[in-house]
Amino acid sequence: MSRFFQAEVAGNIHLSQTHNILRITPLQPHVSPAPGQFYLLRASETLDPLLRRPFSILRWDDAHLEFLVRLRGGGTLLLRNMMPGDGIDVLGPLGKGYPEPLKDETPILVAGGVGIASVFPLIGSLHAGTRLFYGAMNSAELYLLDDIKKLAGHIHISTDDGSKGFKGNAVERLNESMDDLAVAKPTVYACGPEGMIASLLKVLKDRGIPGYISFEEKMACGIGACLGCVIKTKQGYKRVCKEGPVFNVREIVH
Ligand SMILES: Cc1cc2nc3c(=O)[nH]c(=O)nc-3n(C[C@H](O)[C@H](O)[C@H](O)COP(=O)(O)OP(=O)(O)OC[C@H]3O[C@@H](n4cnc5c(N)ncnc54)[C@H](O)[C@@H]3O)c2cc1C
Ligand code: FES
Repeated sequence: MSRFFQAEVAGNIHLSQTHNILRITPLQPHVSPAPGQFYLLRASETLDPLLRRPFSILRWDDAHLEFLVRLRGGGTLLLRNMMPGDGIDVLGPLGKGYPEPLKDETPILVAGGVGIASVFPLIGSLHAGTRLFYGAMNSAELYLLDDIKKLAGHIHISTDDGSKGFKGNAVERLNESMDDLAVAKPTVYACGPEGMIASLLKVLKDRGIPGYISFEEKMACGIGACLGCVIKTKQGYKRVCKEGPVFNVREIVH
């Protein structure tokens, strides 16, 4: 089945001046996503193929797909301004998502900012011992927290300015609480900004904890053709859009 399809905007909730949740209805047959996969979205009023942008799948059901969008530039502004009934070009689901956690491990989900969209589909699907470390710049930017509370038992919140939870980022919070967690076979599943991921890789290496990280590298084609999104791995350069966006921490050179 083709991964290109046309969809219609079913709803567009403005959570703040910078973030919105875009809900779309596919108008053609499409493949179901898996947690950690992404879609290329383009508001179809523009013919500019350069305005096709990658977004992690946040939530889905038989009739809808949802995305959390942070306003950055032209592409995300178009998506923010879309109205119910507008048409949208979609390509996806793309890339390799998170592997299914093993039965004997304790999944530790780590999300910073809009990285929450990538790990969100894992939250409700894992066992009761799963931990979520969720960080944002301030309490107002802890999007989806009410939905998360319905799904997750153990949530560790952090904010950069200390307005809610631990003062610092999600990785600092994780590192601080790791000694007390005493969980069996912790395995990290994470997505967040570049700086957070760099410090997470160091923490995991120092502590010998395995994990999987979703990289939000800037993309051009999004389908493996341009090499614009490569990262360095122990097996050479790999394309985030094709071999990722989720990589085993063991593979990453840092
Ligand atoms: C696999 C993947 C999943 C993603 N999931 C989400 C998601 O769920 N929600 C979400 O809001 N965003 C997500 N992103 C990031 C999103 O794709 C970019 O923010 C978007 O492409 C910006 O487009 P724009 O036209 O608005 O901005 P542009 O005009 O292209 O850029 C505006 C500014 O943002 C910077 N920028 C652009 N893309 C990125 C990036 N990937 N990382 C850091 N800085 C960037 C540019 O350098 C520039 O300074 C994801 C990216 C990838 C690769
Ligand atoms: S964005 Fe072109 S190869 Fe990944």
